[in-house]
Amino acid sequence: MKAAFFKTIYPILLFAAMFLLLGFVVNETGDKKNVSNLNSVIESKIDSVLSLMTLEEKVGQLNQLSFGIGWGPTVQSVVPDEYKVMIKESKIGSFLNAVGADFTRDLQRIAVEETRMKIPLLFGYDVIHGFKTTFPVPLAEVSSWDPEVVRMSAMYQALEASSVGIHWTFAPMVDIARDPRWGRIVEGAGEDTYLGTIMSVARVKGLQGDLTSNKNIVACAKHFVGYGDAEGGRDYNTVDMSERTLREVYFPPFKAAVDAGAETFMCSFNEIAGVPLSANKYILTDILRNEWGFNGFVVSDWNSIGEMINHGNAADLKHAGQLSINAGVDMDMESRSYINNMVDLVKSGQVSEAIVNESVRRILRIKFKLGLFDDPYRYCSKSFEEKTVMNEEMQNAALEVSQKSIVLLKNEQDLLPLKKDLKTIAVIGPLAESKSDPLGSWYQQGDSNDVVTVVEGLRTELSNNTKILYSTGCTIDGTSKEGFKDAVEKASQSDVVILVLGEKGSMSGEARSRSSIELPGVQNELAEEIFKTGKPVVVVLMNGRPLSINNISKKADAIVEAWFLGIKSGDAIADVLFGNYNPSGKLPVTFPRSVGQIPIYYNHKNTGRPGDLNNNYSSKYVDLEMTPLYPFGYGLSYTTFSYSDIKLSSQKINKNQKLTISVDVTNNGKTDGEEVVQLYLRDVVASVTRPVKELKGFKKIFLKKGETQTVTFKISNEELKFWNIDMQFVSEPGKFDVFVGTNSVDVKTTSFELIY
Ligand code: NOJ
Repeated sequence: MKAAFFKTIYPILLFAAMFLLLGFVVNETGDKKNVSNLNSVIESKIDSVLSLMTLEEKVGQLNQLSFGIGWGPTVQSVVPDEYKVMIKESKIGSFLNAVGADFTRDLQRIAVEETRMKIPLLFGYDVIHGFKTTFPVPLAEVSSWDPEVVRMSAMYQALEASSVGIHWTFAPMVDIARDPRWGRIVEGAGEDTYLGTIMSVARVKGLQGDLTSNKNIVACAKHFVGYGDAEGGRDYNTVDMSERTLREVYFPPFKAAVDAGAETFMCSFNEIAGVPLSANKYILTDILRNEWGFNGFVVSDWNSIGEMINHGNAADLKHAGQLSINAGVDMDMESRSYINNMVDLVKSGQVSEAIVNESVRRILRIKFKLGLFDDPYRYCSKSFEEKTVMNEEMQNAALEVSQKSIVLLKNEQDLLPLKKDLKTIAVIGPLAESKSDPLGSWYQQGDSNDVVTVVEGLRTELSNNTKILYSTGCTIDGTSKEGFKDAVEKASQSDVVILVLGEKGSMSGEARSRSSIELPGVQNELAEEIFKTGKPVVVVLMNGRPLSINNISKKADAIVEAWFLGIKSGDAIADVLFGNYNPSGKLPVTFPRSVGQIPIYYNHKNTGRPGDLNNNYSSKYVDLEMTPLYPFGYGLSYTTFSYSDIKLSSQKINKNQKLTISVDVTNNGKTDGEEVVQLYLRDVVASVTRPVKELKGFKKIFLKKGETQTVTFKISNEELKFWNIDMQFVSEPGKFDVFVGTNSVDVKTTSFELIY
């Protein structure tokens, strides 16, 4: 009787809701009324579905399992029997690492044809910098200081992923990272909260669009929160910090992701102040949901629920599940805590069914928003996959983003751009011909065969009249110096040496913390031998973190920071070396002189004894300079820019007034070029100490040779606020220093007063 009822009522309900939804989508012109109607339609559909589900089926929605670990170019084609059975028993709501239009269709078919409730599966994947078309690693892209480029890159990555059945990416990673030992610094936007916040929004928007087309995918802001502050830069390590630091430094990119519409969040592995995030109700519920109004769902990190047994705040998996769901973790990635224990936890009253309902509701909401109830195969078109993956447009976008990601660190006597009529170029170094390292970490289905190496890029760029002499010199991290002789010989025969050094692609990313940030292996020694030849040397760096390259920075004639640029590496690097593209990137993170300076970041506090070379009893090291090797925001161009003094619209403003800050920037160099004009502020006296400088705005401008442009920034009370001594987010009256310039150190300075 009950079964017969379900059989009749469910299709009717679905049909009615689909009809309504379709009507609204077709009519949708973007006005708010229709959107909220659409939302209320979805909510009533969720009510209907929820009311028909058993507790077991609800718990199944909260369970996410993986196909393998998602690395490497293999695409799955076989569904293990265990998974087939679990789908049929409605024990899986989502998979990660299942890819391919046909493969996801096969899985989806079981879910919607062979289960009672016919609820579609949600397919998640780590699209961190591309699915198969590997774009530059996130830290590189951010070096463009161009949110539109970052948005566009995310949009293409989403498009490609959507064509292979993926609905949802575990990106963007918006963790602030001030410690380059931490390998995951490569996945984020660097050390600065303001820049990280702008890039967080750009990535969410690029990935999700408005989610009405099947060419966008759901974003997941991760890892919430504080993960980047792991003690000693050691991945997964303990974190402890004040609520003020959380709110000022680590929260804003996440809050901005919520405001930009990010539909999901991932909680982080770490604890803060003794509470692992997987059980952190204060952060996941009180702040994320109640304070910020997030109404998407939270997924755990991989087995982060289970790992609370190791953390020592959960006795077993059941206890861990109880803590997690009550804290606000809706979906369990891979620990199987929920699927094996949640029904019991509800039946025994340790978890209320209302909490489970709420989590299910949030997950169903995303499935509805993606249109999967209308058409569970929306993302499973083989023909769309075939015409999308690695198509020309995608590859062109990857090249454009790669060019913009490059940062020029040094260019003595304008060695760069190189002339195209050079007779002989020596290309030396373990990364010059590497096919795999430029893919970086999290390259997913990226294929090293698709990578253009530096040598290949140069061959395409140069005519046969230029001889390229290639020598590897040494391996990336080996100890052998056998290759030095050949490298030195070839360097000696050349007009210029391009020395390509750096890290393995696998030395940054998850679980890739390093205790040293030097070039690995004998690369420094190789560089030294090459410098001794007296030839002009251009060092090209490939790396996933800031490196301390003191000797190279002294002795190389030019240094090009290329990070890991993905498949178009060699083309983009050749374009920069030969001036087809004038570099415009700026560092999103400080380059320390040595690992001992870490953490070193531009927006530090002044301390009671600011570092002073002439005062021993000041905050500094006795054996190291106080400054970094390259500061935050630093990067050169083939042209030069001069800045006028800063003009203010007023010396004093009150809380309701806006201040206009302007400078004239002139391209006084030899060629057209782009500059990132940066604005920093300092609140000089406040109820709690404030950083010596905080980025509050930047503008990337293009100036023709000889051109001058007035660049203006508007500052209002909002930009002057901080968490004061009473933990209120307010501004305080008093003096503010203003800095505008080409990086965080080379600035013009003035000040104004905020009056109340
Ligand atoms: C663990 C990582 O911390 C997270 O970033 C990733 O999304 C998941 N694994 C899934 O692969």
